[in-house]
Amino acid sequence: MSESTRRARSTPSGDGARPVRSSNQLEPAVFAIFGGAGDLTWRKLVPALFDLFQDRSMPDHFSIIGVDRVDLSDDELRRRLRDGAGRFAHRGQPDAEAWDEFARHIFYQQGDFKKPETYSNLAEQLAKLDKEWNAKAQRIFYMATPPPLFGVIPTGLGEAGLARDRQRARIVVEKPIGFDLDSALQLNTTIGEHFDECQIFRLDHYLGKETVQNILAFRFGNPLFEPLWNRRYVEYIAITVAEDVGIEHRAGYYDQAGALRDMAQNHLMQLLCLVAMEPMVSFDADEIRNKKVDVLHAVRPIHHDAVAQCVVRGQYGNGWIGGQAVGGYREESGVPPDSQTETFVALRLYIDNWRWQGVPFYLRTGKRLSRQVSEVAIQFRAVPHRAFPPEATLDWQSSRLIMAIQPDQGIVLRFQAKHPGPKMHLRTVEMKFNYQEAFATRTPEAYETLLWDVMENDMTLFMRADQVEAAWRLLMPVFDAWAVAPPGDFPNYAAGTWGPEAAQALVAQQGHSWPLPIDLEDFPPESKGSAETAASQKPLKRVRLKEVK
Ligand code: BG6
Repeated sequence: MSESTRRARSTPSGDGARPVRSSNQLEPAVFAIFGGAGDLTWRKLVPALFDLFQDRSMPDHFSIIGVDRVDLSDDELRRRLRDGAGRFAHRGQPDAEAWDEFARHIFYQQGDFKKPETYSNLAEQLAKLDKEWNAKAQRIFYMATPPPLFGVIPTGLGEAGLARDRQRARIVVEKPIGFDLDSALQLNTTIGEHFDECQIFRLDHYLGKETVQNILAFRFGNPLFEPLWNRRYVEYIAITVAEDVGIEHRAGYYDQAGALRDMAQNHLMQLLCLVAMEPMVSFDADEIRNKKVDVLHAVRPIHHDAVAQCVVRGQYGNGWIGGQAVGGYREESGVPPDSQTETFVALRLYIDNWRWQGVPFYLRTGKRLSRQVSEVAIQFRAVPHRAFPPEATLDWQSSRLIMAIQPDQGIVLRFQAKHPGPKMHLRTVEMKFNYQEAFATRTPEAYETLLWDVMENDMTLFMRADQVEAAWRLLMPVFDAWAVAPPGDFPNYAAGTWGPEAAQALVAQQGHSWPLPIDLEDFPPESKGSAETAASQKPLKRVRLKEVK
């Protein structure tokens, strides 16, 4: 379609009117990325936008404006981002033609985030694009900067009048939202001075993962398990987000943050909410977010003097990962040799409501653990009476449902079955659902999903201010208790293990155990590889929310 036909179809809207749509019915959009020359833009944002572009899921009219302090030309930025797309986009090394077409939408603007002219220059550029497209584009201001700038940028945007349009102007802020409860409240207030809550997209990339979203689909799309999803049938729930990597050159950030801030306050809390929430009445963003906040409000507060009983912290020493010797946390470059920062945390929480009273929720996360695995295990109660003779049940394990989030993606149900033979002998068997086997389509990266949702103005997968604050409120006693009682035993786990002994004791005290990670691989890697490659080349069809409604 020629440019003039496109323009003829899209009529300019007056102030406050809904933005016009371009020919593929996606509203024109500009991503103004603060930190455009930084790691997040290179590693995640632009590869995801490029994947969306190749799936024909970007509007005809779109621009990516990288805003940063360094001196770069448009072409230098494009070259840098091409490298990132080659490494991190789904399709790997970009096809030259596709990249060139995409790169025409990328621009660079040098500017100091603290200076008003950065924002007035940006405003000018945005106005120019609107004029050129004969449209009122959505303006997505993305803070891909270090957290200390999260308070500065919204103010600059607000003062330049760029936050004013409630329909079109959106701001995206990534976790960590604040360093503690006070700073999170402060940050929410600062952003809120310029942007309404309906314009603020607080991003936790875990929520963009397909398998995380599938927790809702599985729970509320099937009548089968929900009746069992409560204290009557569930003995305990274990949520693991384990990484085998270390801190990957992020000492400056990580040594200040630690595992509780970096992973538990956000990713683990999100998983907890999705697993424990009540059924939503509709698939409305606020309805779902309300149900999630209810969970956090119901978590039994952790008392300052009970922290040692229900929270375990750890730091890795040297050890072995995949047959390779690796150094301890304190030997990582940039980490002080006497660092007291935790690289592992495990918590035992209770949710004080009708559904979950008395059911322990065990949460753990850590760096340099035995392997990378994220999963949620629902351990069901034992049968009330074992009618089988003792020799029939030597291998007895209560039923368990495991939702594998990554790297394996799927669901496993473990239960008892009769072992073939003349005698009644029970064995534990598994029923498996594997995403890759079940769907001949690729799984989008979390950032693709989330960036698409920002363009769609769909807040379902984003955190609301009260949820972030509730998660901080819950964990503050732990931070406070730890601040006055530094750990005496760090490093207390070897790299390549499952964390400190005390984390085993945390669950063992209740007669429970952390589940061993499941393995979904039961078909040859070659066939999986080719199925995945073929699927990853196919454009992903995204259904637009506005079409569905
Ligand atoms: C980030 C943390 O939010 O999540 C990192 O800051 C962590 O420390 C990462 O490695 C894990 O994300 P994923 O998607 O690789 O599980």
